[in-house]
Amino acid sequence: MTLSTDPLTGMRQRYPEEMLVERHVCRVLTEAGALSGFREYDGPVLEPFSLFEAKSGGELVEKQSYFFTDRGGRKVVLRPELTPTLARMVAARGEMPMPIRWMSTPLCFRHERPQRARAREFLQFNLDILGADPPGAELEVFLVLDRIMRLLGVSPDKYRIRWSSRRFAASSLAALGVTDVAGAFGLLDKRDKIEPAEWLGLLEETLGCRKKAAAVERLCGVTDPEDPYLKELLGDDPALAEVAGFQRLLLGAGMPSAEFCPSIVRGLDYYTGIVFELTDTGGENRRAICGGGRYDNLVEAFQGRPVSGVGFGLGVLALTLFLETYGCLPDRLHRTPPASLYVVVFSPEELGPALRIGEGFRNLGVSASVDVTGRKVSRQMQHASRENYPWVLVVGPTEVSSGVLGLKNMRTGETVDGRLETLAALVRGKE
Ligand code: HAM
Repeated sequence: MTLSTDPLTGMRQRYPEEMLVERHVCRVLTEAGALSGFREYDGPVLEPFSLFEAKSGGELVEKQSYFFTDRGGRKVVLRPELTPTLARMVAARGEMPMPIRWMSTPLCFRHERPQRARAREFLQFNLDILGADPPGAELEVFLVLDRIMRLLGVSPDKYRIRWSSRRFAASSLAALGVTDVAGAFGLLDKRDKIEPAEWLGLLEETLGCRKKAAAVERLCGVTDPEDPYLKELLGDDPALAEVAGFQRLLLGAGMPSAEFCPSIVRGLDYYTGIVFELTDTGGENRRAICGGGRYDNLVEAFQGRPVSGVGFGLGVLALTLFLETYGCLPDRLHRTPPASLYVVVFSPEELGPALRIGEGFRNLGVSASVDVTGRKVSRQMQHASRENYPWVLVVGPTEVSSGVLGLKNMRTGETVDGRLETLAALVRGKE
C-alpha cells in the first residue's frame, strides 16, 4: 500500500517558506499586543468537552468540535477556541491585579468545511482585557486592532471594524416584534456569508412574516446609532444609549476604521455587550479576519466572582490571505536565507575543520550552515546561491593550514580574506 502524500483534510502542514510568513505575522501581532501592555499565556490543547459545551455552545460545539473519549474514559475535545480556557484560568487564580491584559496564539481545531481562510487546524491570535468595564476596554482593544493593521502596513481604507451590541440587537428585535430572537441572531450572523436574496428568504422563513423580515433588513441598513429611526424604535432603552455612547467615544478617539453595523451579533453564546468583526472592504476576503466582544458571565460561572472581559480572536490564516491580497507581505520574506553563511567544503578531508569553522562562526553569533554532502564544490556553490545565502566561504587545505579564510559576498561577488573573528565581525556588521 502506498501512503498518501496529503495530510488529513483541513489539517495544515506548512513548508519553511510558509512558516517565514506565518512567523512574521505572529511576531507583529504579539509586538502590537506587547506595546499595549499585554502579556502572553497559553492553555492546554486538549480540554474537557464539558467546558465548551457549557461555554461556547451552538454550532461550534455541536457541529464543529473534534471530540473523543480518551483512554481514561473522559470526553475530551481539541480546543476550538481559547476563551473558555482563559475564563477558567482567571477564575482559578483568584485575586489578581485588575485589569488583566493577556494575549495568546493558540492552535485550534474546528471540523469546518475547508475554504479560503478556513481550515480545520488554525492559529488564532487572542487578546483580552478582563476586569475593566465598558466602554474604555472596548476602545483599547479596537486601538490594538488598528495598530496591528498599521504595523503591517495596511492602508486604513482596506478594512473596517464593524461593531454593534448584543443588547442593542436583542432590544431592537423585540421592538420589531421578533419572538424567535435566537433564530434571528443566527441569521444576522450569516448575513455576510450568504447571498442577499437567499438571506432575506431565510429571514422570512424564520420569522414567518414578510413585514418583520423587511423591518429587520431595514434595521441592518442603519449606520449611525444617532439615526432618528432608532430613537423612534427604542426610545430611552439603555441599549440604544450604550451604542450611541460608544460611537461618541470612537469619534472622539478618531477611529475611522470603526463602523456601526447592527447585523453584527456573533455566533458564540457568551457575548453580552459590544461585539465586533474586522473585515476586508474589498470583496476578496469575505469571511471575518477577526471577531470578538464583551462577555460578562464567563469567569463567574467557575467561582461566583463576576469578572467581565472583552477581547477578540484573529485568524492568522485569514489575516495572511488579506495581507497577500493587498501586497502587504514584505518581499524580503521570500528571499530569507536559512543562515547568513554557507561553508563550502573543498574535499572530504576538510569536513572536520569546516564543521569546526562553522561552529566558530556560530559561537560569535553568525548563523552558518556547513555543506555535509561531500558533493562537488560547484554544486555546493549552486546550492548556496539558490538558497540566497549572502556569504559563502570555501574551506580547502590552504585555509585549514593558514587559518586565513576567504569570505565571498554573494551579492557583490567580492571576496575578503581574513581570520574567522574578523570575518564574523564583518558579517555581523552587515546584518
Ligand atoms: P470566532 O469568531 O469563532 O471567535 O473566531 C475568531 C476568528 O478566528 C475568526 O474571525 C477567524 O479569523 C478565525 N477562525 C475561526 N475559525 C477558523 C477556521 N476554521 N480556520 C481558520 N480561522 C478560523 C472566537 O473564537 C472567540 N473565542 C474570540 C474571542 C476572544 N472573543 C473574545 N475573546
